Amino acid sequence: MAHRTVFTAVIASVLFAGTAGVVFAQATHDEVIAKRRATMTASMRSNGTLNAALKAGNATPETIAALKGEADKVHTAFVAMSDMALWPKGSGQPEVSTGTKAKAEIWTDAAGFKAALDGAVAASGKLKAAGDAGDVEGMKAGVAGVQAACSSCHAKYRS
Ligand code: HEC
Repeated sequence: MAHRTVFTAVIASVLFAGTAGVVFAQATHDEVIAKRRATMTASMRSNGTLNAALKAGNATPETIAALKGEADKVHTAFVAMSDMALWPKGSGQPEVSTGTKAKAEIWTDAAGFKAALDGAVAASGKLKAAGDAGDVEGMKAGVAGVQAACSSCHAKYRS
């Protein structure tokens, strides 16, 4: 009798652990998807703020400090996203069909995707360096370079 109770308890805990594992894996992917999408959106806001201010031609020594902060944010965002921890295999299509625009090519062409991420890190690094130097023309070129990195990656790896 006691034997049987222990046996049942073991089976129950194995079943429970199995179920919890599946739920945990899904939750983990939901988290990374939300995190990388939020980081992308933040970079879009910062880049948009920079673009608008630089186009308006009203960058003054006073506003350049704030713009430099936005340039830093864009760079920090891509440094964070170039860590492949935010892109685990199975966290995009086809395994996850809703809530993500991450295409299967991210994993079937992993080297190409990593190169696109590294390209965005480099482009945003130039933008940040121009911001650090207070070089408004350099920042304009930097924003354009970052935008090119956004679109070329989206064309291949975002649905
Ligand atoms: C290395 C590739 C890559 C680069 C570079 C990149 N993105 Fe993305 N972006 C993606 C992928 C892939 C997704 C989809 C992520 C998901 O849904 O899980 C995405 C999602 C987004 C989203 C989320 C909302 C939506 O509609 O998908 C925004 C906003 C966005 N990117 C803006 C930008 C901006 C702005 C830049 C440049 C400053 C940029 N991205 C650079 C690959 C990239």
